[in-house]
Amino acid sequence: MTTTQVPGYVFDNEHADAAEQHRCLAGAYDAFTTRRLSRLPLAPGSVCLEVGAGGGSVARWLAERVAPGGSVLATDVKPQHTPPTPGVDVLTHDITCDPLPEGAFDVIHARLVLLHLPERIDVLRRLVPALKPGGWLQLDEFDETTYGPLIPLGASGDAAAEAYRRYLGAKLRLLESAGVDLAWGRSAATAMHRAGLVGIDAEPEVQQWRAHSPGTALQVHNTRHLRDRFLAAGMTEEQLEEAGAAMSHPDFLASSCLMYSTQGQRPGGEAAVAAGQGASR
Ligand SMILES: C[S@@+](CC[C@H](N)C(=O)[O-])C[C@H]1O[C@@H](n2cnc3c(N)ncnc32)[C@H](O)[C@@H]1O
Repeated sequence: MTTTQVPGYVFDNEHADAAEQHRCLAGAYDAFTTRRLSRLPLAPGSVCLEVGAGGGSVARWLAERVAPGGSVLATDVKPQHTPPTPGVDVLTHDITCDPLPEGAFDVIHARLVLLHLPERIDVLRRLVPALKPGGWLQLDEFDETTYGPLIPLGASGDAAAEAYRRYLGAKLRLLESAGVDLAWGRSAATAMHRAGLVGIDAEPEVQQWRAHSPGTALQVHNTRHLRDRFLAAGMTEEQLEEAGAAMSHPDFLASSCLMYSTQGQRPGGEAAVAAGQGASR
């Protein structure tokens, strides 16, 4: 199950800045993701699938929750940033086409993966039968139509606001042209319902971003990781530097886009404990 091409995915785990991307994602979103996963009936012995595991922090958290006796399969097309650890098996796997076992998992989680994949609805249809009857799927995905503008303070004035706005606009156009569904975060609940899941629960989170915030560091990272794509799309080196400087300024203040964490349950089975009543609470 190996894949070297990653159609539709604009980042690349082979890039020199990929480890930084995964650190920022974990810093910005693991608290929200794990609080949401804690609502599910995870218990010692549970079997989990972490799709597009990236840096592997969520897979490691799951492994601790399901020990002893449980297991976590962490998959990624390029899994070099997910080291195998006790309780976590790592597999090179393309979720758009590589096989999945039927009825195997109590919990499947994916964060910021389906958003990038033009085949996201087909992927969702493949994930549902991989759940055990009564098992849960959690998708944590951005609604990238909802970024707040920069709020200029003190020395960070209109020029900084313009540099930030220009960066965000270019990034969103770049993502959309690569097949990203910018509104996927808020569409996931409907898609999961249509795919046959029940008990749908969709919680949004918005963050205040300052210069030191992991979410801001992720954006600054994007100016480097996607540099070649930004330049090909018409941004200049100077504009990218201005955006990076605006986001690194001590006066930087903006609101993030919304991150939706959406949960749904495969009907049937003994694992059918309602969200919020899990053994792990
Ligand atoms: C934006 S990163 C998110 C990483 C991690 N889920 C997180 O939120 O910290 C997306 C991850 O999905 C992986 N990915 C992209 N396309 C994939 C595919 N078709 N199948 C499996 N993984 C994929 C990437 O290699 C990358 O590690």
